[in-house]
Amino acid sequence: MKVDPDMVMTPEALMSRCLALAMNGAGCVSPNPMVGSLIVHDGRIIGEGWHERYGGPHAEVNAIASVSDRMLLESSTLYVNLEPCAHFGKTPPCCDLIVSMKIPRVVVGCLDPHDKVAGKGIARMRDAGVEVTVGVLEKESERLNEAFMTSHRLGRPFVMVKVAQTLDGRIATAVGASKWITGEESRVEVHRLRSRYDAVLTSSSTVMADDAELTVRHCPGRNPLRVVLDRQLQVPLNSMVFSGDANTLVFASSRSADAARMGMLEKLGVDVVTIDDAPEGLALAQVFAELHRRRVMSVMVEAGSRVAAALVRARLVDKFAVFIAPKLFGGDGLPSFGTLGVLMPDQSVNLRFGAPVVVGKDLMLEAYMH
Ligand SMILES: NC(=O)c1ccc[n+]([C@@H]2O[C@H](COP(=O)([O-])OP(=O)(O)OC[C@H]3O[C@@H](n4cnc5c(N)ncnc54)[C@H](OP(=O)(O)O)[C@@H]3O)[C@@H](O)[C@H]2O)c1
Repeated sequence: MKVDPDMVMTPEALMSRCLALAMNGAGCVSPNPMVGSLIVHDGRIIGEGWHERYGGPHAEVNAIASVSDRMLLESSTLYVNLEPCAHFGKTPPCCDLIVSMKIPRVVVGCLDPHDKVAGKGIARMRDAGVEVTVGVLEKESERLNEAFMTSHRLGRPFVMVKVAQTLDGRIATAVGASKWITGEESRVEVHRLRSRYDAVLTSSSTVMADDAELTVRHCPGRNPLRVVLDRQLQVPLNSMVFSGDANTLVFASSRSADAARMGMLEKLGVDVVTIDDAPEGLALAQVFAELHRRRVMSVMVEAGSRVAAALVRARLVDKFAVFIAPKLFGGDGLPSFGTLGVLMPDQSVNLRFGAPVVVGKDLMLEAYMH
């Protein structure tokens, strides 16, 4: 590869380059993490690579393979945003490759929480005499793979609730109409987000109100699994959510879902799973446990007020992506969130904002749960 001979970069700048390379795998590598790697010799980048697709070679393998003069590896530093793996998965352990190539130094962004790695990759390299530094751009490295981290640490998918609302916090008018609140640019951005999540989750009420297809059409990218909470299987069979190229999984009540209706859905190629009822619908923890079992690492929620509030109450949300249109629907519109039971300000659900982004005429705010 071509390099600028005068280019000498700080460890943070080099790790930042790893993160940018890793991002190339967005929407292609799940349930694996996004990883980018560099080989640096005398302060100059002589090789780079990233994990391109699930089942394919890891970033470190691609970075090492891109170096034309293999002898230089023995006096180089390998940068990577996630701890090199220590186990045989679809490919052999990367830490063994690093040791066998006699790379003397490795700089890692953050540790891998996967129970088959979790510090073992670092230990294996150190035992073999490799000098390993951990924690350069650690927060940024964790954030990039937030879905992977959450899934391995909590045993459930990372959950992001997407809201398209007016400035006064309304997601539909008094008659339940919500098409369209935000502008075209925001809708393209929603499709881009969908392509990065493993699943998009909605409800019977929202499907019956909006009849959205919930696929990726306004940008390139793969379709997520469509998940519908439909306790009594009342969503019409000709709904858009059952058509198109994407797969659909319906959660229904094991107590009241009709077996004949279940058979009709299965004939359409729709998967139906029955679970327990909860006071306001279905047992949400069971929904996410089943999705985790199916290796769904991330879920984007595109439902209404009641599901959003139920998820917040159950502490099953990690992040919100709120698209705010410069419009007002007034107090008779449907609020973004249903009842949360907050009586005093100090009982509020506390969040932390990310940087606001202007999307066309709208504003997009990310907020993380504390
Ligand atoms: N602007 C936006 O971003 C946006 C996004 C989505 C929807 N919307 C609008 O929101 C409106 C629908 O919102 P909504 O509040 O009426 O309904 P919702 O929150 O979308 O769905 C509520 C329904 O989900 C089902 N459900 C299953 N498990 C649940 C649980 N544990 N907790 C709560 N609900 C559960 C229940 O139906 P069953 O038990 O009968 O299955 C319940 O009636 C529509 O007007 C739609 O256009 C706007």
